[in-house]
Amino acid sequence: MKVALLGLGSVGQGIASMVLKKGLGITITGLADSKSGIIDAKGINIEEILVRKRGGNPAGDTSVSAMDVVQNADYDVLVEVTPTNISTGEPARTHITSALRKGRHVVTSNKGPIALHHRELLTLADTHHVSLRYEATVCGAIPIIHILEHGLLGNQVKALHGIMNGTCNFILTRMSEEGLSYEQALAEAREMGYAEADPSYDVKGIDPAIKLVILANAIWNLGVTLHEVEITGIDQITPEALRLAGEDDATIRLIAEAIPARQLLRVSPRILPRSHPLVVKGTLNAVTLETDMAGSLTFIGKGAGSIETASAIIGDILFIREQYDGCS
Ligand code: HSE
Repeated sequence: MKVALLGLGSVGQGIASMVLKKGLGITITGLADSKSGIIDAKGINIEEILVRKRGGNPAGDTSVSAMDVVQNADYDVLVEVTPTNISTGEPARTHITSALRKGRHVVTSNKGPIALHHRELLTLADTHHVSLRYEATVCGAIPIIHILEHGLLGNQVKALHGIMNGTCNFILTRMSEEGLSYEQALAEAREMGYAEADPSYDVKGIDPAIKLVILANAIWNLGVTLHEVEITGIDQITPEALRLAGEDDATIRLIAEAIPARQLLRVSPRILPRSHPLVVKGTLNAVTLETDMAGSLTFIGKGAGSIETASAIIGDILFIREQYDGCS
């Protein structure tokens, strides 16, 4: 399977290091970071690239752009893991549409283009008889899209509730268990590298709302947008509120929920008993699906992280290989 990889930040380096370590029948034939690119149909020396990146150097040739890689590399799957832009989805949207138009499969962790242009991109993929997969956009290592697409075939999913932001969950856990202030807990979360570049996307609930939009559109094809989600973040939660909840053996969690029958799409802090299945700790994510046949199912796992997100990306690449003959 020949892969062109765009983006060599934490997720891109995680993918490259797992391909180096595990092989998996994946050859990286094109690669670009924000400043440079490399194309080599025989396979790029990943070890050398990772050493260069860790030394703070561009991965490749500064005269080669990400679009050069999309247009000129020899690949079956474009892996798009550049930083997300939730206003326009660019430049990822252009990378993705260009690859799909060339008849190449696409796998992405990029929330912007999937939240903004889900239908348009899937239609384009269909038109060109290729796959567009985006497991890594939601809930990190939890294979929620695969579960929805395959594990629950024949079920009607009636509702979805979840913890979809590790940063907020970490902050609430640290505030309630260690008595940290909101500011101290946020500073710790930022040091861990889980928070978005602008952490207000996390604490104001925008990041989990984007993930809710992606999942709602994946499950119900509703064509909803971020503007339709009622959002309250955790930035007004006080240690006192958590202490009071604790007195009743409860706690506070930022819950994203979608219930189409009630036209409800909401992200808000909720008081939950400590024994509730969604009360997970630290940076974990958790998702509950309410279904007509399988009942209520809850999945828990790491919602972010270099290798955990690489797990979702690699799962999508290998799934495409299983589905399509002719991918080398
Ligand atoms: N900032 C996000 C989080 C990263 O904390 O969950 C994963 O999308």
